[in-house]
Amino acid sequence: MVKGQRKMIEQLYCESFPRSRQLHERARKIFPDGVTHDNRYLQPFPPYVVRATGSRKWDVDGHELIDYFVGHGALLLGHSHPQVVEAVQQQMAKGTHYGACHELEIEWGARVQQLIPSAEMVRFTASGTEATLMALRLCRMFTGKRKIAKFLGHFHGWHDQVMPAIEPPLDDPTVPGVPPSVIENTVLLPPNDIAAVERALEADKDIACLILEPTGGHFGRVPLRPGFLQDLRAVTARHGVLLVFDEVITGFRVSPGGAQAHYGVTPDLTTLAKILCGGLPGGAVAGRRDLIEQLQFGAKKKMRHPGTFNANPLSAAAGITTLDLVSTGEPNRQANEAAAALRRQLNALFEREGINWVAYGEFSRWWILTDYNGPRPDADPFIPYDYDLHRLEVQPPAPLVRAFRQAMLLNGVDSTGMSGMTCAAHTPDDIAQTVAAVKETIRMMRAEGLVQ
Ligand SMILES: Cc1ncc(COP(=O)(O)O)c(C=O)c1O
Repeated sequence: MVKGQRKMIEQLYCESFPRSRQLHERARKIFPDGVTHDNRYLQPFPPYVVRATGSRKWDVDGHELIDYFVGHGALLLGHSHPQVVEAVQQQMAKGTHYGACHELEIEWGARVQQLIPSAEMVRFTASGTEATLMALRLCRMFTGKRKIAKFLGHFHGWHDQVMPAIEPPLDDPTVPGVPPSVIENTVLLPPNDIAAVERALEADKDIACLILEPTGGHFGRVPLRPGFLQDLRAVTARHGVLLVFDEVITGFRVSPGGAQAHYGVTPDLTTLAKILCGGLPGGAVAGRRDLIEQLQFGAKKKMRHPGTFNANPLSAAAGITTLDLVSTGEPNRQANEAAAALRRQLNALFEREGINWVAYGEFSRWWILTDYNGPRPDADPFIPYDYDLHRLEVQPPAPLVRAFRQAMLLNGVDSTGMSGMTCAAHTPDDIAQTVAAVKETIRMMRAEGLVQ
C-alpha cells in the first residue's frame, strides 16, 4: 500500500514502474500507441508483465498484481494451471501443427458437443472474431437473406458487419473504414425491448439472423432482463430469423454449458472462443446440423473455410484439459462466488466511504459505475437503474479511469478500467486485498480532487 503520499498518482506511478516505462518507449516506435490490443492502452504507459500464475501476475519492476484481465476472459482456471501447462508441454514435444487431421481435435469437438446444448455439430476457427464471421455467413447462406440484427452495445469481434454501435455514441452506426453498404445491412436494436425486436423483424423481411451476447453486451455492462432470452427465442422462431448466441465470453464461464445451459434457451448457432482453448488461440461455431453442414463438400452451395490454425494441436490440448476441469462446474462456481463477494464488499465500502459509486454485474463480472444516484444495493446481483441502456452503457470519464487504474496498480491490482472479471483462482484474500486497494485508491483520488 502507498501510505501518506502527497505526490500525484501519475507521478507515483511513473516512479514505481520505470522498467515498464522504458519498454513502452521502445514499443511506441513499433506499435501504434505502443500497444497490441485496444484494451491494454493506458496513459502514459501500461505495465509490462513477465510471468503469471493463478490469480496473480508479476511485472518487469517486480510488482505482484492481482489480475482481473484474466487473459481477456480466456482464463477461467487462472494463469498457468498446472494440468493445462503439462498438457501443452507434452503436445509441444509431439508437434505444434500437423497440417493434417488429428485425434485431439475429435476429443476437443466431442467435449463441445457434450457441454453446449445447441452443439449438434462443431467447426473450429482461429479466433472469436472468425467464429462470429462464420456464423453470420452460414445464416445468410441458409436463409438467402442479406441482413443481420444485433443489439446496441453488444460486441462480437472486429469484422465489418458487427462493429456498428459497440460502444457510445450508440446513435451513430458509422464505423471508419466500414462501407455504408455493409452498415446498411446491420439492423441495430435496443436490448431488453422485445416489442422493438418484434417490430423490426416484422418490418424487415431481409434479416437472416439476430446475434447477441446472451448475458448482455461486453459480458453484461447492460445485463439482460429475466425472460428476455426466452422471448427472443420465441420471436425469432415466429419470424423465421435464426438466433445466434455469441458465447465467446460466456461459453464455459457462466456455466459449463454457457449461458444457454444456464437459462435453458437453445439458439440455432453458438460462437465460442477464449475458455474453449484453455488460454491459447482459437474459436468455434457450434449449432444446428443443417446450418453447419453448409461447410460440407457436396453441400448444394458449400461455404469455403480454410484457416491455418483451425484446431491446432496445442490449442486442442489446452482446450481438452480445460473443458474437462470446467465440466465439473466447480471453476464456474468459484469464479462466480469471487465476483459476487467482490461486488458485495465494494458496495459496503462505497457506503462506508460515502462515495457515489456502485458495484454491479452478474456471474464472474464486476463493474463500477461512478456518479450513481440510485438506491444502494440490497442484494447481489443488483442491476442499477432498472437495466436502463443509456444510464449503464456509459464510460466513466477518461481521466478518472486513468487515475483509478494507475492507483490500483500502485496498490497491487490490475483492473480493466473500472471493471474486471474473476477466475477460479481468485481467493477470499485476493478479494479482501482488492477492496483495500480500492479504499486506498479512493483516498488517493480524493487527495487529488478527482472524486468527492
Ligand atoms: C462476445 C465476444 N465476441 C467475440 C469476441 C472476439 O473474440 P476474439 O478476440 O477471439 O477475436 C469477443 C472478444 O472479446 C467477445 O467478447
